[in-house]
Amino acid sequence: MDKSLHILITGASRGLGAALARGYAKHYGSELQLSLVARDKNNLLNSEQQCLNFGAKVNSYAVDISEPNQIIELIESLETIDIAIINAGITGDSHKATEPWQQQEAIIKTNLLGAMACTHALIPAMQKRASGSIVLISSVAAYRGFGLTPSYCASKAGLKAYADSIRDGLATQGVKVHLVLPGFIQTDMSNKFKAAKPFMLKADMAAELIINKINRGQWVISFPRLLSYSQRLLNCLPARWGDAILKRMGYGSPDK
Ligand SMILES: NC(=O)c1ccc[n+]([C@@H]2O[C@H](COP(=O)([O-])OP(=O)(O)OC[C@H]3O[C@@H](n4cnc5c(N)ncnc54)[C@H](OP(=O)(O)O)[C@@H]3O)[C@@H](O)[C@H]2O)c1
Repeated sequence: MDKSLHILITGASRGLGAALARGYAKHYGSELQLSLVARDKNNLLNSEQQCLNFGAKVNSYAVDISEPNQIIELIESLETIDIAIINAGITGDSHKATEPWQQQEAIIKTNLLGAMACTHALIPAMQKRASGSIVLISSVAAYRGFGLTPSYCASKAGLKAYADSIRDGLATQGVKVHLVLPGFIQTDMSNKFKAAKPFMLKADMAAELIINKINRGQWVISFPRLLSYSQRLLNCLPARWGDAILKRMGYGSPDK
């Protein structure tokens, strides 16, 4: 390789993002340039060190992606990005079908608007070079919302719709958009989830799977298969049947 592969990862200080950074560092070693983004400097440095151990070159940026100007300015200042993994995300529970407004606003600003701001900043340079990949991390929750985490489901459904909407137009200009819809992954986020977590994967295993599928050029990456199909099937049922099934399984909004 004459030039290092440059990968940007948001939400890279812990969880899936840190596992993806480690996974790429393990694959590409000294041929890799990583730009890692998250808010917490100490966690970022810890994640950075794990990638340096594999020989990758790493720069970390303590930036809040829910502040669009900050993240747009950072992305525009970086040299050629080959792959951008837009992964940062937060969640929050509901009670009696409602969530505090601040929580709803923060979830949409981070998971949806933040991801769109990153994509917006990435597109012009990739269009100009007619190359580059943008990977948007959504969730199987995008297929069918449930009462436990309404704003989170809305943010991930919004991101899925956004990826589906821009994929073809950018593909014709040489820019790839990959949409990732994972089921449960063992991280701080899933630790907070108050219902059953079937088929949960370890973060490093999920990262390996995502990296392999991106390398194979898969546009939509959804796993585990059974959870992904169940969510899509629920969406085909009459709405109240789907609601009843989800509530029975503990994914409804708690009323006590
Ligand atoms: N875990 C699951 O079961 C699961 C399932 C499906 C999809 N996902 C998706 O996978 C992605 C990663 O989730 P995870 O499970 O790894 O969560 P996590 O362990 O809570 O990590 C979230 C990451 O995002 C960063 N982050 C959060 N808000 C940010 C902000 N405003 N600006 C910059 N960075 C921010 C966090 O770092 P700081 O706090 O330091 O900023 C952290 O690095 C999310 O988009 C999530 O929705 C997760």
